[in-house]
Amino acid sequence: MLFEELRIRNVSIRPAQILAPMAGITDTVFRRFIKRLGGCGLIMTEFVSSEGMLRQNLKSQRFLYYKEEERPITAQIFGADPAHLAEAARIIEGLGFDIIDLNLGCPAKKVVRCGGSGLLRELPLLEEIFRKIRAAVSIPFTVKIRSGWSDEEIVAVPVARLAENCGVEAIAVHPRTRLQGYSGAARWDIIQEVKSSVRIPVIGNGDVMSPEAAAALFSRTGCDAVMIGRAAPTNPWIFRQMMEFFRSGSYIEPAETDRYELIHSYYAMLVEEDMPGAIGKMKQFASWFTHGVRNGAELRRSVQSAQTARDVLDRVDEFFSASLSK
Ligand SMILES: Cc1cc2nc3c(=O)[nH]c(=O)nc-3n(C[C@H](O)[C@H](O)[C@H](O)COP(=O)(O)O)c2cc1C
Repeated sequence: MLFEELRIRNVSIRPAQILAPMAGITDTVFRRFIKRLGGCGLIMTEFVSSEGMLRQNLKSQRFLYYKEEERPITAQIFGADPAHLAEAARIIEGLGFDIIDLNLGCPAKKVVRCGGSGLLRELPLLEEIFRKIRAAVSIPFTVKIRSGWSDEEIVAVPVARLAENCGVEAIAVHPRTRLQGYSGAARWDIIQEVKSSVRIPVIGNGDVMSPEAAAALFSRTGCDAVMIGRAAPTNPWIFRQMMEFFRSGSYIEPAETDRYELIHSYYAMLVEEDMPGAIGKMKQFASWFTHGVRNGAELRRSVQSAQTARDVLDRVDEFFSASLSK
């Protein structure tokens, strides 16, 4: 089977199919929801500011909350100050995370000034950051990069080599530049170049929207694991479908009842756990998830005008009980 297992030192990622960190999406509830559906071997927190962590900012503490059933779990941090990042990494280790990951990809303006993809233009500083984090923790240390700042400054290979030399143990590559944002296509050839330049595992990421695309990513790059971002909230079954596809050459498309059960169970988790911002997350998820649902536009309208999280859940239940009985 493709992507059967990836080992990062003592951590077994099985299957080697990873949920990408996504700010505002991959909170503890979403991560557990994805894990329960099967086929996802590693989940990651959304990125957490090292500066926020050191100030013991509430948001950062909330982002770092996880449950045992989420293991193995990676915490992702960002920042630009080597000593502060090292201190944040120590805190992550103390919280019991299995892996620490450094974000070198975020294109948001606010983040670029203090880390994220901005560091791809400052390799001497980046080297210091790698070394300080490496010296600060004994858990596996990984990084996630974009390909560079712009088409003229593609640095994926030198950054991967630098990371390897500094003791980083795996690298995830999202082969778009900072300036590209999310436009255009991910350049998988850059993942292949990184793969042939380093010995540490390379995790391929970018534009994998189906099991077929994951197989193509593997054959084009030889990457050791696949990381899925935007496809997960529109098709949370994608991890399980990839496993089925790699084993048997086909996979099951969910029926309308599966869609209902899925949206209901995710929303019920958000309501029961009284997640901060639950209603906003529910509305956002509904707009992704209900494409392909019969009369999805009607459901989206109904959800958008709800006033409370419980109200959203009730409207979803009502919509599906009417539509499934037709
Ligand atoms: C809403 C959103 C939030 C994201 N937040 C993060 C983040 O916190 N850390 C990170 O490394 N990448 C983040 N990313 C990038 C994804 O992890 C991933 O690299 C990118 O979406 C490409 O993969 P995909 O084509 O499978 O979506 C985010 C992407 C999206 C769409």
